[in-house]
Amino acid sequence: EKGGYEHFMLKEIFEQPRSILDSMRGRLELEAAHLNMGGVRAYERKFVNADRIIIVACGTSWHAGLVAEYLLEDLARIPVEVEYASEFRYRNPVITERDIVIAISQSGETADTLAAIELAKSRGATIFGICNVVGSSIARATDAGAYTHAGPEIGVASTKAFTAQVTVLTLLAMIVGHKRGTLTDSKLRELMVELSNIPAKVEKALLLNDQIERISETFKDVPNFLYLGRGYNFPVALEGALKLKEISYIHAEGYPAAEMKHGPIALIDENMPVVVIATKDSSYEKVVSNIQEVKARKGRIIAVVTEGDTTIPDMAEFTIEVPATSEVLMPLVSVVPLQLLSYHIAVMRGCNVDQPRNLAKSVTVE
Ligand code: M6R
Repeated sequence: EKGGYEHFMLKEIFEQPRSILDSMRGRLELEAAHLNMGGVRAYERKFVNADRIIIVACGTSWHAGLVAEYLLEDLARIPVEVEYASEFRYRNPVITERDIVIAISQSGETADTLAAIELAKSRGATIFGICNVVGSSIARATDAGAYTHAGPEIGVASTKAFTAQVTVLTLLAMIVGHKRGTLTDSKLRELMVELSNIPAKVEKALLLNDQIERISETFKDVPNFLYLGRGYNFPVALEGALKLKEISYIHAEGYPAAEMKHGPIALIDENMPVVVIATKDSSYEKVVSNIQEVKARKGRIIAVVTEGDTTIPDMAEFTIEVPATSEVLMPLVSVVPLQLLSYHIAVMRGCNVDQPRNLAKSVTVE
């Protein structure tokens, strides 16, 4: 059942080219230059006229929600708020009928997310669900939705469900942006082509596995890790840190790289590994300065860069090269080496990768 892999988590990481493709199958039609999501069609007007989109989720699904905030604001120009379901539901939030609430959940059974939906529903919002498990409680509680087609995810650490969520949210932002006229025909076309190339790029990123296993050897005994990223790679930094802590039990924190100077920089010394996601995008130069700041304090830099980068390899202790893609799609590629890094470190520490201590695959208690 593990298909020759030692753990479900590794199998699921390697399934991503396929699960991403499955999540866009029938939805992205390149030839016809057409995007099509059944669940969105009936609510198209709602989306186009929405005052605001509120995203509720927990854990990794919340990180996918953060990526969606960048996507929906960038491509569709709708204000977005991303909320931890557990906070949202107890906060007496302001919700109106012109709001759309997007609930994201792999399992579709997360108690806090379900309760957040019920609350938003009682206040008249339209609820759109993005779930992986067909017929799950959240899928049933929503007005409309789109399934991710990641297939069953067994490892407690979410990997392929995350990239499937981001894929579906990208399609959603493209559809809504195009309908609203904020995403031009040519830009839409360009993104469609680039999105259809993502499975092959993820396949390429998976070739980094051996290199990352070697890097993991160097860091397997450290007590702390910092993850930094900006823009679309900020949620990826959070996700990398969560993956590491939940399966290797190493304390890790993710930060927007620019926030470092407001506190976390005090943690940096020659013992602190800092994973910096520094792909070529609109914040590249700024991230390079952040790397310099870490280096000046002797932090140990592991940089995820775009293939062919000639600047960062001179500054970092380890450089991991991922294929170039559009800035808005980069999380789908840049998260892959971080998943592999956490996996190998956890295995080397003798941890139970698929079933980490204190955690369950679906959190049905609040
Ligand atoms: O099933 P859900 O997507 O609603 O689960 C949400 C979180 O419990 C989940 O993402 C959790 O954080 C994972 N273990 C992360 O890898």
